[in-house]
Parts: sequence; structure tokens; C-alpha cells
Amino acid sequence: MEIRVEQGDIASQAVDAIVVNLFEGVEAPGGATGAVDKALDGAISQVIKEGGCRGKDGTFTLIHTLGKLPTPRVVVAGLGKQDDFTVDKVRNLAANTARYLRRNRCKTAATITHGAGIGGLDPQACAQAIAEGTLMGLYRFDRHKKPKEDDVELEQLSLVEFDATRAEAVRHGVDRGAVLGEAVNFARDLANEPGNKLTPTDLAERAQAMASEVGLECEVFDQPWMEEQGMGALLSVAAGSQQPPKFIVLRYKGGGSSHLGFVGKGITFDTGGISIKPAAGMEHMKGDMSGAAAVIAAMGAIARLKPEIDVTMAVPATENMPGGNATKPGDVVTTMTGKTIEVINTDAEGRLILSDGLGYMGQSKPDFIIDVATLTGAISIALGDVAMGAMGNSDALYERVQRAAAAAGEKVWQLPMYDEYKDQIKSEVADMKNTGGRNAGSITAAMLLREFVDDTPWVHIDMAGVDIYDKVKGTTVKGASGIPVRTLVHLAFVLANDPL
Ligand code: BES
Ligand code: MN
Ligand code: ZN
Repeated sequence: MEIRVEQGDIASQAVDAIVVNLFEGVEAPGGATGAVDKALDGAISQVIKEGGCRGKDGTFTLIHTLGKLPTPRVVVAGLGKQDDFTVDKVRNLAANTARYLRRNRCKTAATITHGAGIGGLDPQACAQAIAEGTLMGLYRFDRHKKPKEDDVELEQLSLVEFDATRAEAVRHGVDRGAVLGEAVNFARDLANEPGNKLTPTDLAERAQAMASEVGLECEVFDQPWMEEQGMGALLSVAAGSQQPPKFIVLRYKGGGSSHLGFVGKGITFDTGGISIKPAAGMEHMKGDMSGAAAVIAAMGAIARLKPEIDVTMAVPATENMPGGNATKPGDVVTTMTGKTIEVINTDAEGRLILSDGLGYMGQSKPDFIIDVATLTGAISIALGDVAMGAMGNSDALYERVQRAAAAAGEKVWQLPMYDEYKDQIKSEVADMKNTGGRNAGSITAAMLLREFVDDTPWVHIDMAGVDIYDKVKGTTVKGASGIPVRTLVHLAFVLANDPL
């Protein structure tokens, strides 16, 4: 799918449909919608008068031009109330519009930049949101399905900007938005891929292929290297699997004065191990590498958008399987940092592999560390499928994460790591144990991770509640969400411009 920018008049576009818009309650359309209305001899105003188009959020009105314009169809997108209009609404609107056009069998379309005219929002931000929303909204994971013969794809969308002085800003926005939307879809592709088609080896190969495409340094380490490093926790999770584990490192050198580290949980399938999960819903555990997918895809976008900051990414990748050699409840494992963990429940494997992921990242001496993981079911009990959970050791870094998430239109909220919770992960036989019971499950998981971070500012993001959706709504489609790719990319820019 191609998104282009053109300077000119939307009404003169020879495409399958042109898209204009209307705020709720407007009776006499102005701006570009007004111009198209005029070219149609008042057809839009007449439909409004007859009650066929009220500008309600999420509604579309299709008007046939019957030869009055080069395009056969005009789509009037409802924007809702003008006072509530935001860039996030523009992004979701673009996603809904793109699907509406595809449903109506349009291969080519042109749109005005929603929000940038009467809406009064920043044209570049709106253009970016339209590109992101269009790409995210059209996404579907169908590579393992026989193509339907009469399926139509929206192949081309042009943003048509009348005002020459704004065309440059719109172009910038579209370029950035396309990179971000593609990165989200790349993360979705990785996370949606079933466990048999995306083993740790496959994940490493996909990361490597992307890295050579965008010019990132990539290293993939094998089991003997993990043994040399003393990554006993990662190896203990891999022990039950026939698939070799991989440790994936990507490096971006953007210059500037600071260095950001990303660590992503790369469990390509989580059966739970010997503490095996119930059968119902276990298929979703093919997405237990969503944290890894997000950091890998974010690195790709960072390489293309070039913030002035260095970024290092580490992904420990393995399956979590039961097997003759699998780790057993009660086993004690020694992590890379030398600290020991008693494995009470082999299904709490994410924190085990991340302890070595964070241990490795510590050696790179970054100025800030973000880890991203589908770590605990408990985070959905706390925050539902609306927000990611965050915990960390630095209010200043958390504030930057908040700012980045707000810019991305993603949600993240902090939980406390009070000292009192620490007793829950005390072990009789090791330095700590890997589960702290049902209460405050997301917090005790984060507190184990904290043991593997020195005083480097660090924020842990638990995305287990928002990794997969079974609904289509705005930029959300069925399957992997691609969250928090955009937050991570924005964060690289926030930290480049405003280090702690
Ligand atoms: N991968 C799961 C967490 C998860 C749950 C992700 C639901 C996405 C959706 C994680 O490895 C896990 O199994 N966590 C356990 C921890 C428990 C054994 C302490 C959990 O949350 O039940
Ligand atoms: Mn698990
Ligand atoms: Zn897991």
C-alpha cells in the first residue's frame, strides 16, 4: 500500500473515491468539504438537510457523483464534536476510513488531511496520524490463508493538500507515519506468527533480515555463548525445548550524548513448562514474544527515522516447553549476574529470561533501560486491555515514557514497588524465588527484574493485557496489537531531545 501527498484540489482527483469530512452539527459544510459540495451542486448539503449525514463520529456517508466529478464517489467521514477532536481521533478515523474504502472495493482514494483545516490541529501531526492509522487499520494476518479471489486491497491513498505552504509539513508527517505504521505491522507479523513458524531461530533471522535492510548492527548468539556468559536462567527455560535458544542484539548508532537500552521478552511459545498451562486459550501463547517483536520493530523504525541517540536492543529468545530435560519446580538457577533464583513455577519464565537479558544490557552501560514483556496475567486484572503497566526505579524516566505514550496514543500506567512486597519473593534456598503468589503478581514480577538492574534509570513495561485483541476498532485489528512500538520510537526522540 502506497501513501502519497499531492498539492492541489481534492475535487479534481481521478480516483475510486475521495474522502472529505464533517463535524457533528454542521449544516453548511466549509473548507474542502464545502468546495466538493459546490462542485456537486449542493448534493452534500442536501443529504445533510435530509438527515442522511450528521457528522457523527464513526459514520460514513457515500455520495455518488454521477459524472459531476472525475471520481465516481465521495465519502463524507463523520468527525464527531469539534471540541473533542484530537490527533488520536484522526488516527482511528483514518483506520476506519481505510477499511470502509476497502469494503467498498476502492483500490485508489484521495483524502483531505482531517483535523488540519477547520479542526485546527497541527497539519504534520494529522498527516502522520492518517498514515499510521491507514496502515494499521488495513492490516490483516492472512499469509497462511488461500487468497480470496474477489478480495480488493486499497492500493493507494493520496493526501491532497490545497495550501502549498502546508504541503511540506504534510509530506513530513506522512513519511514518519508510514515508517511507524509499517513498524507496528512488522511487530504484528512477528507476534501473529504461530509457534511452529516462528521459532527462536526464525525470530533471529527475521531480525537479522530487517537489520540489514535498514542498516542496523545485528549479532545473534547461540547456546555455547550463553553458557560462556553464565546465562543460567535463560538456559533453564530453554532446557525443555528441542529448539535452540537465541540471543539477539541490535545496535543503532545515532550519535548524540545518550544511550538507550531496550530488552524484550522473546518466548516464541509459552506452554508453561512443567507447570503446564491449561489447554483453553494456550494458542495465544504464540504471542509471548510480543515484547521482543515490539523492540525489534521499534529498532527498525528508529534506524529509519534517525533520532540523535544510541540504542542497543537485546532479546533473549526461547520456547518454554515441558520435556525430559526441562527445569523442575524447586530447581535453583544461577543468572549471569551471579544471583540465584529458585524456580517455584516454571510458567513464570519471562522474568527468568529477562534477568539474563537485563544482566547483559547492564554490561553495555546504557543511560536508561526499558524492558517490554508479556509478563503477567495479573496486569490484565489490574488494568484490563486498556493500558500497559509500568514499574521502575526512576520517576524522571517514567515521565518520559508517559510523554512518549501520549504522543503515540498508547496508554501506560504505573504501579508501585513498595518495599513491603519484597517479602513475597524471598526464598529459603536461593537469593529470590520466581513467584510471589497471586497478590500483586505484576509488582512482585517487576521486583524480581529490579534485582538485575543497577542504579541505571529503568522502566519495565508489562504489556500482557494489551498484546492481543479479538475486535476491530480504529487502529486495533484482530490478533497482535503491535503495542508499544510507537511509544518506544517516540521515546527515543524524547530522550534524544530531553535526556534525564
Ligand atoms: N506469558 C505469561 C503471561 C501472560 C498471560 C501473557 C496472559 C499474556 C496473556 C507468563 O509467562 C506467565 O505465564 N505468567 C504467570 C506467572 C505466574 C505463574 C506467577 C501468570 O501470569 O499466570
Ligand atoms: Mn509463562
Ligand atoms: Zn510467558
